[in-house]
Amino acid sequence: MEEKAQKKYVQKHDKDLKAQNGLQPIVVREFEPADKPEVQRIFYEGLMEMVPDTAFRGLTHHPESLLLYTAVTVVCLVITMCWWLIGLLPAIVLCGRYFYSRRVIRGYLEHAMSRDMGDIEGFYMKSSDSCLWVAVLEGKVVGVVAAVGQQKSGGAVELLRMSVDRSCRRCGVGVALGRKVLEFAVTHRYSSVVLGTTAYRHAAHQLYQRLGFHCVGVTNGYVTPSTRWSLLGHIFYRVRHHHYSLDVQNSKITSNGQH
Ligand SMILES: CC(C)(COP(=O)(O)OP(=O)(O)OC[C@H]1O[C@@H](n2cnc3c(N)ncnc32)[C@H](O)[C@@H]1OP(=O)(O)O)[C@@H](O)C(=O)NCCC(=O)NCCS
Repeated sequence: MEEKAQKKYVQKHDKDLKAQNGLQPIVVREFEPADKPEVQRIFYEGLMEMVPDTAFRGLTHHPESLLLYTAVTVVCLVITMCWWLIGLLPAIVLCGRYFYSRRVIRGYLEHAMSRDMGDIEGFYMKSSDSCLWVAVLEGKVVGVVAAVGQQKSGGAVELLRMSVDRSCRRCGVGVALGRKVLEFAVTHRYSSVVLGTTAYRHAAHQLYQRLGFHCVGVTNGYVTPSTRWSLLGHIFYRVRHHHYSLDVQNSKITSNGQH
């Protein structure tokens, strides 16, 4: 009887995913060594999208940076009285923000490649407390997500490395990957799933909220791992880190990762 209900659920769930992308169902499975180049590409491209996001969209989220740039402009005007220089300042600021965002994000990427993303098998697949999954659509790897238990069972598990191939977005791939992590947390009896993001775009925040996560804190002026401090870096690169959490035990999440 239970098996019948489960079969019915799987059929319905598959139908939902098919309906969302209009194609074949999305399959989320554990990482295999042959997936490595595609996983690294999707992770790299997803992370590099953060460069313009941080440099340009991020500016509208940091009034303190805008205030600083305005103050510098006024000081330059008073000292030089040179209007063409003042006219050039916005372009200089945007170039500086782009350059430093790119530098920090590339540094972070190199750091990830020298650790977990360079040795996915060794880092995620050897222990029962961690895993990396790929989403497969029409036989192609189109998304990636990982989970790492912060403590043994009963503690929190961290969701990380979520990224979906640009050509397959808004098809339900992100939700399918997120549910896999929730399912992992439930079956391994973790109490919650936590994650952090410095993205300003709506997509990541909407996805996590849709999965049931709540923002539990924001760190302004977050220091990205592997970043070396520099004054110019401090002026041009400033991000906000959003902390999300989902209490899987009290949210009645089933072993399928659904509410
Ligand atoms: C964030 C990301 C993983 C979402 O993946 P996705 O496969 O497009 O997500 P889904 O199709 O499952 O969408 C789930 C929900 O997220 C929200 N969403 C996704 N993309 C969105 C967008 N561009 N704008 C607004 N909401 C969006 C919607 O609520 C959507 O549900 P709906 O389509 O029923 O409205 C993807 O955009 C991505 O890889 N971005 C680059 C890397 C990144 O930012 N990763 C997160 C770092 S923490």
